[in-house]
Amino acid sequence: MIIKILLLITIIAVNKAEYVNYRNHKLYRVTPSSDKEVQALLDIKNNNDFLFWLEGVKVGLENRIDVAQEKQELFEKYLSDASIKAELVVDDVQSLIDNQVKRPLVRNTNEYVWDYYQTLDEIYEWMDSFAAAHSTVASIINIGYTAEERPIKGMVIDYKKIGDPYIGVIEGGLHAREWISPATCTWIIKEFLTSNDPGVRSMAEDVVWYIFPVTNPDGYVYSFTDNRMWRKNRNPAMKTSCAQWNLPDDMSVGVDLNRNFDFLWMTVGASSNPCAITYAGPAAFSEQESLALANLINNLSKQGSLLYYLSYHSFTQLLLIPYSHVQGKDVLEADNYADLFEIGIKGMDKLTARHNTTYRVGTSADILYEVSGAGFDWAKGGAHFPLVFLFELRDTGNFGFLLPPEEIIPNNEETMDGMVEMHRAVRSMGYYRGSA
Ligand SMILES: *[C@@H]1O[C@H](CO)[C@@H](O)[C@H](O)[C@H]1NC(C)=O
Ligand SMILES: *[C@@H]1O[C@H](CO)[C@@H](O)[C@H](O)[C@H]1NC(C)=O
Ligand SMILES: [Zn+2]
Repeated sequence: MIIKILLLITIIAVNKAEYVNYRNHKLYRVTPSSDKEVQALLDIKNNNDFLFWLEGVKVGLENRIDVAQEKQELFEKYLSDASIKAELVVDDVQSLIDNQVKRPLVRNTNEYVWDYYQTLDEIYEWMDSFAAAHSTVASIINIGYTAEERPIKGMVIDYKKIGDPYIGVIEGGLHAREWISPATCTWIIKEFLTSNDPGVRSMAEDVVWYIFPVTNPDGYVYSFTDNRMWRKNRNPAMKTSCAQWNLPDDMSVGVDLNRNFDFLWMTVGASSNPCAITYAGPAAFSEQESLALANLINNLSKQGSLLYYLSYHSFTQLLLIPYSHVQGKDVLEADNYADLFEIGIKGMDKLTARHNTTYRVGTSADILYEVSGAGFDWAKGGAHFPLVFLFELRDTGNFGFLLPPEEIIPNNEETMDGMVEMHRAVRSMGYYRGSA
C-alpha cells in the first residue's frame, strides 16, 4: 500500500512540469549594428542557451536576452568572441515577475479592476457577469474548445441590432506571455459598454463587436502556473524530444498561434520545428484557436460587412499594418495601405497626447521583422477585412512582457484614445456609411 502511494506520488511529480524560475537570470540589451553582428547573434540564438525576448534579429533592432546564472560565462565568451556589446539592464528577471504577479490582499469580488493582472478564471467570470449586467446589448459567445478543453470565449456587443451591420473583431492574448493584451481587451469591453465619451460611443455603436480577450486560454493559464515566458498554445499533439536542440521537451507542446493562420503560412519568420518558439504547426489552421476564429469570421462575413480586425500583442509600441512580409515600396501590396497608414498616424498622435507614449506605424517587415501566418495578415489577405491593425502595446523593452501592473491603466487609456481617433478618421474617409 505504501509502495503504491509512493508510486502514485512519483508519477504525479513526473507528469507535472516544474515551475520555471527566473531567479538570478540577467537581462541584457543588445542592438546589432551590422550584418556580421546579426549573423553572430543568430548563431548564439540558435544554440538555445539563452532566451531572446524578440524573435527577430535585425540591424538596429534593440533586443533583450535573458541569461541564466549558470550560462553567464558562456554568454560573455560568445559576446567577446564576436565583439558584440551588451548592456546589463536587469539583475534578476524573477524580481520583475514577482512584482508583476502581485495581487491585492483584499479583493472585492464584485469589482473588476485593472490594477493587477487577472487570471483566466477571473476574466471569464467577469465577462459572464458583465454581459449579464448589459444583456440588452451584450452577450457571450463560445467559438470552440482548446486542447485542454477550455472554452474560447468572446463578448458580442450589438447596440443597433440591424440587418447587414458592420462587424469588428478584436483578438487578444494569442501569445500567452503578453499579459497586457487581455488586460487591454477587457478594458475595451468596459469602455464600449459604459463610457459616456462621444468618440467611444460612436466606435462602440457603429459596429457589432466580437471581442476575444484571451484567444490562447491554455497558454495564458500555463504562463501563470508553470512558465511566465510561455508563448505558444499547449497542444500536445506534436510532443517530441527537444534534446538535440538543447531545449526541454516541454517546448514541443504547443504551436505559435500567430504563425498558424492560412496566409503565406510557413514562408518566412516561422519554424517547422515543434520545439521552436515560433513553430507554425503541422499545417495552417491545425489549431483549434486559430481555426475557431477563422470559422467565426467566415460565418460573420455572411451576416454583415467585415470592417475591423484589431489584434493586440506586446511589446515594442508599434502599430503594425499588413502585410508582415513586405517592406519599402512593396507595402502597397495591401490595397489601402495609404489609408491604413494615415489612420494609424492620426490614431497614434492622439495616443501620444495622453501620456507621451510614442508608437511607430508601418509593416512588421519595415519596423519590426518579417513574419508569415499571422492572424491579422490572414484577416486582410484571406478574409478581406478593409481595416486591419496590430498593436504591439507597452513598453519598448525595459520591462517587456513583465510590464508592471501600475502601467496597465495608463496603457489602456492611451490605447483607447488612439482607437477612438482611428475610428474618427475611418468615418471621415468613408469606410463607415451608416446613419449616425
Ligand atoms: C459557424 O457556422 C456554422 C453553421 O451555422 C456553425 O455550426 C458553427 O458553430 C459556426 N462557428 C463559429 C465559430 O461561429
Ligand atoms: C515626451 O517623450 C519624449 C521622448 O519620447 C521626450 O523627449 C519628451 O521630453 C517627453 N515630454 C514630456 C512632456 O514628458
Ligand atoms: Zn505577440
